[in-house]
Amino acid sequence: MTTEAPAVDLLPFRDPDYRANPAPYYARLRREAPVYRHPVGVYVVSRYADVAKLIRNPTLSVRKLDFGVADPLHHTVLGQDAPDHTRLRRITNRWFTPKAVEGWAKVMQASVDTVLDEVAEGDGVLDAVNDLALRSTFQTICHIFGIAPTRMLEIQQATYDIGLSLGPGSDEDDWRITGAAFEWYDEHVRGLITHKRAHPGGGLIDHFLDEQDAGNMSEEEVIYSTLLFFAVGHLDIKHLIVQGIRHLAEHPEYIGIYRDQPEARPGFINEILRIETPEQMVSRLTTQDTVIGDTTVPAGEVLILLIGSANRDPDAFPDPDGFDHTRPAGATSQHLAFGSGQHGCAGQVLARAQADVVFTTLVNRFHTIELAGEPTFAHTEFLRSISHLPIRLG
Ligand code: HEM
Repeated sequence: MTTEAPAVDLLPFRDPDYRANPAPYYARLRREAPVYRHPVGVYVVSRYADVAKLIRNPTLSVRKLDFGVADPLHHTVLGQDAPDHTRLRRITNRWFTPKAVEGWAKVMQASVDTVLDEVAEGDGVLDAVNDLALRSTFQTICHIFGIAPTRMLEIQQATYDIGLSLGPGSDEDDWRITGAAFEWYDEHVRGLITHKRAHPGGGLIDHFLDEQDAGNMSEEEVIYSTLLFFAVGHLDIKHLIVQGIRHLAEHPEYIGIYRDQPEARPGFINEILRIETPEQMVSRLTTQDTVIGDTTVPAGEVLILLIGSANRDPDAFPDPDGFDHTRPAGATSQHLAFGSGQHGCAGQVLARAQADVVFTTLVNRFHTIELAGEPTFAHTEFLRSISHLPIRLG
């Protein structure tokens, strides 16, 4: 298979058509150039078998990746290799236990109930993004932190702005916006930490500060880990929740299925994640010659592992563009939406629990879930994003 860039750019990252629906571009890539040397100078890997293998390959580095203006993320698990990654990940894992998730799901439930009580008393119309998914996930992550849920919309915006620079198609305008978002976050998080030092509690930020005092985390690691959890605490999970609601609205037969068949729920959530994968790619740097199919990628090259494409690969998922929550359990859960290997998502148990709280509560309380307007999208090549989804509950 060729690795040279053909005359036509097979992956036009900034093209609005591509951003609106990358699936046809991915299909062509998997067929014609599964290890594609993109004109911007990265290698793009699109087949499931290759992506699944590489994402677990410990010789690939994230520490050595040039994050550009997003460089502060190197102070978090996302930007570190072993042994620093192992140290930071242990600190996270000690906190994100299944028992803790059970408690946080109750916080999520209370938040969802409050929103839906208000909606039921009104005209039944709401924006599934800001009114429901963002509000409930943001309140939950703030509870986890041990802080009041303030500045929600600013945090949502700053997080989105940071995401602009995480894709290989980003440009100078994106970098400027991302730089400003880091400055905003930096100041906000430092303020929270100062407050926490004066008023300690039992939340995740307190846990980070204890680890810093014990010599296990640096000040930068505390600041940017807090930023990271603000971001992951609402970003992708919001997308999963909203896409699930959209599916229930567009395919009302799923309302009864989700309500009456609890055994179908994990398959439903996995199919939303597979078909509407929130983060379309993860990046790695080769540290040695790396053989991918017929191609040998030399050391020091950036690999873009297209998990969004892997999740639509017909060799792994028959009829890959069709939503089928009854795929065999192994097949539905083998999607790569949460990544895998040492950087596999640390919050996936929480994310699944939060999504299930929203879907179960909606189908138990309401008979109908309908679209009340057109969705608004804000997709980039890196992130699938819905900014508004008006719905009517009846
Ligand atoms: C639907 C929701 C979510 C999706 C699709 C998702 C997706 C991902 C993906 C793809 C990665 C791997 C990144 C890489 O390999 O470079 C990741 C890592 C991570 N996720 Fe999630 N995530 C979700 C929700 C959450 C939540 C709710 C939390 C915690 C509150 C969380 C915390 C993390 C952390 C800390 C990492 C870094 C792990 C590491 O590098 O060791 N995520 N996530």
